[in-house]
Amino acid sequence: MSEQKRPDPKRLFMETYGCQMNVYDSERMRDVLTPLGYAITEKPDDADLVILNTCHIREKATEKVYSEIGRLRAHKERRAGEGKGMTIAIAGCVAQAEGEEIIRRAPEVDLVVGPQAYHKLPELIARAARKTGERLAADFTAQEKFDALPARAPDGVTAFLSIQEGCDKFCTFCVVPYTRGAEYSRPLADVVAEARALADRGVREITLLGQNVNAYHGGASFSELLAALAQINGIERLRYTTSHPIEMTDELIALHGAEPKLMPYLHLPVQSGSDRILKAMNRKHDGAFYRDIVSRLRAVRPDIALSTDFIVGFPGEKEREFEETMRLVRDVGFASAYSFKYSPRPGTPAAAMLGQVSEAAKAERLAQLQALLADQQRVFNAAQIDRVLPVLVTGNGRNAGQKHGRTPYLQSVHFEDTQVQNGDIVPVRIVAAAQNSLTGARLALAPEAA
Ligand code: 5AD
Ligand code: SF4
Repeated sequence: MSEQKRPDPKRLFMETYGCQMNVYDSERMRDVLTPLGYAITEKPDDADLVILNTCHIREKATEKVYSEIGRLRAHKERRAGEGKGMTIAIAGCVAQAEGEEIIRRAPEVDLVVGPQAYHKLPELIARAARKTGERLAADFTAQEKFDALPARAPDGVTAFLSIQEGCDKFCTFCVVPYTRGAEYSRPLADVVAEARALADRGVREITLLGQNVNAYHGGASFSELLAALAQINGIERLRYTTSHPIEMTDELIALHGAEPKLMPYLHLPVQSGSDRILKAMNRKHDGAFYRDIVSRLRAVRPDIALSTDFIVGFPGEKEREFEETMRLVRDVGFASAYSFKYSPRPGTPAAAMLGQVSEAAKAERLAQLQALLADQQRVFNAAQIDRVLPVLVTGNGRNAGQKHGRTPYLQSVHFEDTQVQNGDIVPVRIVAAAQNSLTGARLALAPEAA
């Protein structure tokens, strides 16, 4: 047979902003496009197709999209001069919320595609490449998207699995109920089948994803779903994010004490320590409710690491309310946290509230809060020194002979080893701790019980 010259692969450059849902969606988009001959490139100037998977949650995130489009314009023009094309697609929540504005403001954008329509990408990209100036509004249901996406191609031992999208909670600061729409849960059988397929491809740790993941109601409760996934051979670790305090049922809290595959780490956003602000945010619970959940979780799983989100400078927040947030942080003790300055989002109730806080006060409060949270993170990491933790090996470290892995508390660990394989769970003694990672020494595998 004569050698046939293979066509050059088309190059795809993707940039992902925002939450883990977007990271997951980007992986799925890549999976849709790989069979069409697209290979990932790290260089935008080299790309036949660029996808920006955008985030709309805060103003800064949205602005980044427009400045990135500006940078891409130059690449696109240069390529055109060389007789090569570049299709620019904007995906994600900014596409969903401001699609028409993007088309109007940015003529170099060929395609705008919202999160419910990624399964249509091949067709859309083909049309865009023919220069029809197409724009697609995301008028497909989430179910259709899930059913139409191809099988997963995980490239590691950990994977995200999206089980729920959208949100009906309508926190007054948040655009998600508008951009991602009403809550939708995938059927239990579909989720279990996808998890089994991931296990067959070597995945050991699954993180269930959803904007309100513990509001899951796909024919079973969220706890029932977790229990079903824990039965799958090969899946050793389960996590979920992001959860809402009012969906932490007794059953789910109990499962944290009873199911060893459920990792002792929970991201449970609280947003504020002030009851007055929590009410204005429409969070549907107060500070005492949150503290009670924490103490019940710690009663069943004393070592659980807690992570959270905060917003400082929500409209009406005075020093006193901010101090209540600081007190809640001191009382609870967090292993990690994300904190943000309140950013008014168009169309949300809080954007129109009286008592908007000055930028200077927001910046000052954020700095104070972040200093305290950073201290707590250092204390939590340092508390692991001399402990022996089961570490899931996820890849090679920076230096030769070094491996990288994850503790049950989602900390990243480096240790010297040449024998362990990705996917092994090995005992590692923690010898040093920094702000964002740990250093360990692997112990010999524990002998089989006699
Ligand atoms: N301003 C600042 N932070 C916000 N978040 C959501 N909306 C806003 C906003 N308008 C934060 C919340 C949420 C996280 C994902 O982003 O803390 O939990
Ligand atoms: Fe936004 Fe609140 Fe829904 Fe979370 S629960 S996505 S913060 S509206």
